[in-house]
Amino acid sequence: MKIKIKNTSIMFCVALVIGAGLTSVGTAQKPSTVPKMVEDVHSYSNPQAVRVRHVDLDWNVLFDKKILQGTATLSFERTSNEQNAPLILDTRDLQIAKIETSNNGKSYKPTEFKIGESDKILGAPLTIQLPKGAKFVRIFYSTSQGASGLQWLEPSQTAGKNTPFMFSQAQAIHARSFIPLQDSPQVRVTYTARVRTPKDLLAVMSAEGNSQTDARNGDYKFKMTKAIPPYLIAIAVGDLQFRSLGNRTGVYAEPSVVEKSAREFGDTEKMVEATEKIYGAYRWDRYDILVLPPSFPFGGMENPMLTFATPTILAGDKSLVSLVAHELAHSWSGNLVTNATWRDFWLNEGFTTYLERRIIEAVYGKPRREMEATLGKRSLIEEMAGMETRDQILYVDLKGRDPDDGFTGVPYEKGALFLRHMEESFGREKFDKFVRGYFDAHAFQSITTETFVTYLQKNLLDANPNLVSRADIDEWIYKADLPKNAPQPQSDAFAKVEAQTNNYLSGKLAAKDIQKEMWTTQDWLHFLKTLPEDVGAEKMAELDRAFNLTKVGNSEIAFQWLMMSIKNKYAAADARLEEFLISIGRRKFVRPLFAELAKTSADMKRACEIYAKSRAGYHPITQSSVDAIVKCS
Ligand code: BES
Ligand code: ZN
Repeated sequence: MKIKIKNTSIMFCVALVIGAGLTSVGTAQKPSTVPKMVEDVHSYSNPQAVRVRHVDLDWNVLFDKKILQGTATLSFERTSNEQNAPLILDTRDLQIAKIETSNNGKSYKPTEFKIGESDKILGAPLTIQLPKGAKFVRIFYSTSQGASGLQWLEPSQTAGKNTPFMFSQAQAIHARSFIPLQDSPQVRVTYTARVRTPKDLLAVMSAEGNSQTDARNGDYKFKMTKAIPPYLIAIAVGDLQFRSLGNRTGVYAEPSVVEKSAREFGDTEKMVEATEKIYGAYRWDRYDILVLPPSFPFGGMENPMLTFATPTILAGDKSLVSLVAHELAHSWSGNLVTNATWRDFWLNEGFTTYLERRIIEAVYGKPRREMEATLGKRSLIEEMAGMETRDQILYVDLKGRDPDDGFTGVPYEKGALFLRHMEESFGREKFDKFVRGYFDAHAFQSITTETFVTYLQKNLLDANPNLVSRADIDEWIYKADLPKNAPQPQSDAFAKVEAQTNNYLSGKLAAKDIQKEMWTTQDWLHFLKTLPEDVGAEKMAELDRAFNLTKVGNSEIAFQWLMMSIKNKYAAADARLEEFLISIGRRKFVRPLFAELAKTSADMKRACEIYAKSRAGYHPITQSSVDAIVKCS
């Protein structure tokens, strides 16, 4: 059987229609707990016919070959009347040695399988024939060196420089590059894992079983007993130490940054408590944070029980911990109630950005919330100005596109403004109750935008007529641009910064006389963003003399300053730019800096020189983003 991409998706749609019909008639084989599957254009899998329930992993972590090698044993059930349907899984660049099936989980027999044509974005479908009565399938496989969801670091790329490091990043569709599975967020699974590593390294996963000590023996067991979407399966292996932060919170990091991390994240337990107070119990037992080496491509990743975080938020003054609030908030919005497909991504990120700001308000006060909301809205408006209208829609159409392209400010900031708009319209008390009820009603489920809208209509709009219209909701979710009624955050602190900025720009105030003693990181960011884009190298030199901005350690401020330096040809920051791009692989910083350099041919030449030195240290995700920008001959 040869599988072609186009045919598969057509077949999938047909199967869905039939499946939907069967659901309404009801079938004897179909357990009532099976949620309805919707079309997911980013998965080849067939959960509407055969649905994976549990994944059991047995891995050897082979640092010399840079591969994971072992088995994945999947338990599944039939979810339709098609008794002969094969099991179709997602894969990307996996080497499959053999596949066996079993009826009882004890005795296994080889079965036939076929790997279809590989698509650049989606990878390749793996079709496995299932003999009658089969309930388990065991796949013997290894990952490839270029697995898009893994990064293998040389000792030189770690903080400690002595031992190698490996970590995974599965969201959005990279789990398939290290596990053959049904890689759609609506296919929730529990998982267990046994992981063998070099004896002196510690393995951690997004599951129960993390050591909470510094002890290691090279043989680790994990279990995640709650059903999660595949993109939340995560592993890291390295020279890690643990520090406790509170009763159920802690941090793992390389020895040289573990103390700094523990200080930076000292408010984590408070954040968990503050979130529980508004949105109900934290349902994942522990909340730990893993600090990764600087090549981690994201700011943070909400892997359950164990947030993965970039070391670039270790500012020394807790000023960038809204990232922790954000990843923690995903324990409700995203991990508990999950987007069914990547089209519904705003359900994860919009809710989470809204919750993040509520947590910041509860722990650090309203002024801090308003500063961060102001910065968020401003960057959204700037970004949307250069964006195609189709990408300005919360319910974004990603057909034929990499879901990583949906990674813009729209699901985050427009989503958060939408929810804030409802908070302001219904009042905080009613809205908080609604959101808490929404989490409870959909706990451990993956839902679509439509399911959310139906629930909203019934539980908030109908119950409180005349406050927000359905047309208003539809405009927010299904239309481009920002609605006219979008909330406007108010920051008095920023108003004061603006007053000084204006005096500075009009010549009434010298740079050295700017009263910046009380400025927070957010004030600095607002100050820099309020300066005209073409402020000029001369003024930049003056600001640098007064504030030493080229040497600033805070990664967000440094990034902003370096963007301005490229735009204004401020050569004194050249060396710092190169050092920044070589030492940090966080895509949010690296991509815009290269994109700015790529705008002129002289700077493109510099970009090529820097990228030649930095590329090898970047994660595959960052590499492919920058490859698309930096074109060198
Ligand atoms: N879940 C995202 C990261 C993500 C999204 C990875 C889509 C891959 C595909 C995470 O929660 C996130 O949003 N991280 C942000 C930080 C946050 C404070 C806005 C980031 O990494 O910049
Ligand atoms: Zn997020």
